[in-house]
Amino acid sequence: MSSQKTSSPKKDPQKPALKKIAVIPGDGIGQEVIPQAVKVIEASGAPVQFTDFDWGADRYLRDGTSVPPDGFATLARDFDAILVGAFGDPRVKTNIHAKEILLGMRFKMDLYANVRPVRLLDAALCPLKGIEPKDIDFVVLRENTEGVYTDAGGVFKQGTPDEIATQEDINTRKGVERIIRYAFEYCKEHTKLDGSPRNKVLMCDKSNAMTHAGGLWQRVFKQVASEYPNISAQHMYVDALCMQMVRDPRQFDVIVTNNMFGDIITDLAAGLQGGLGMAASGNIHPGRASMFEPVHGSAPPIAGKNVANPFGAILTAAMMLAHLGMTKEAVRIEAAVLEAVRQRKTTVDIGGQLGTKEAGEWVCEKVSKG
Ligand code: NAI
Ligand code: MG
Repeated sequence: MSSQKTSSPKKDPQKPALKKIAVIPGDGIGQEVIPQAVKVIEASGAPVQFTDFDWGADRYLRDGTSVPPDGFATLARDFDAILVGAFGDPRVKTNIHAKEILLGMRFKMDLYANVRPVRLLDAALCPLKGIEPKDIDFVVLRENTEGVYTDAGGVFKQGTPDEIATQEDINTRKGVERIIRYAFEYCKEHTKLDGSPRNKVLMCDKSNAMTHAGGLWQRVFKQVASEYPNISAQHMYVDALCMQMVRDPRQFDVIVTNNMFGDIITDLAAGLQGGLGMAASGNIHPGRASMFEPVHGSAPPIAGKNVANPFGAILTAAMMLAHLGMTKEAVRIEAAVLEAVRQRKTTVDIGGQLGTKEAGEWVCEKVSKG
């Protein structure tokens, strides 16, 4: 594909096989933060090979392509993981390219588990009083292929006083069960940052008002929970959960929810950890090429100004390496970001004075020494 460029370290027969990473910076600040994440991975010495893809608004405006015909098949077949920036550009009013690329990857590659860790690196980053890093260490598992984001629905009698718009909420037994099961497995397999075990899965819905979809989530949750007697199963309505997240975030461990509630509560959760610039995520289907992206969007007003916080993207890179089994490199990158936050070697949004590149370079330096 003419739009791909591959770069990799020199071959050494002693070294393990390189993992292949597709890099899609996308639009706006994606083009600034992803190069920092790539540099940091290189500094960690992780055995990876990068291939760049130019999918995004520029390409779409140039030749009308959002995703080339064999695009998703290429990603799934030829790569171990995909590192993505963000999509969205004011020049593309419909945002159609963003939808085709991002939702396309999630839906067509069936990346059903959107894993969004919420961790406070430093007390100064949290807008809540008296909250320490040990108090915020939870994860939101967002169903990523169904719900109201499937675009099922339509408009009838558009532009008339009788206009009707419907947006269907799609919940399949298979889709609900696999994300709930993923949550219990995640809880079983992961510890908190301080090494203590995870032991609670909380399902969040709005089953009091959305009874049909909520009913399915409730039934499946009870059934799957019964298979994990050592994990406490809890439930909260999404509105109550928003209130609790602000009043006492200490109570959360693993949260599982649908596509839309997961989208919304993770922006709220990002606010607890220092803003969108700090939040990382993975879009995962176990055993397949999975996609990793910072939670934030393309932030057009600050794009091209070297002010975007690269740490969400860098922490995303660490998450990707951990997923690929490169735990040592991931831990080193996370430790370097933590140190940068503590020493205020950060961008302005989280209290520092550095630009995007300079903050990225500081972390690189730390990682390569570590
Ligand atoms: P956004 O995440 O781009 O920005 C929200 C706010 O957070 C803005 O004030 C922005 O300046 C700030 N912000 C975000 N990331 C930051 C960072 N790394 N450092 C410092 N500040 C940061 O969300 P918004 O404004 O709703 O959407 C902008 C565009 O991005 C739209 O086209 C939207 O569709 C798209 N979008 C794309 C996503 C993706 O590709 N995953 C996710 C969310 C939005
Ligand atoms: Mg969002």
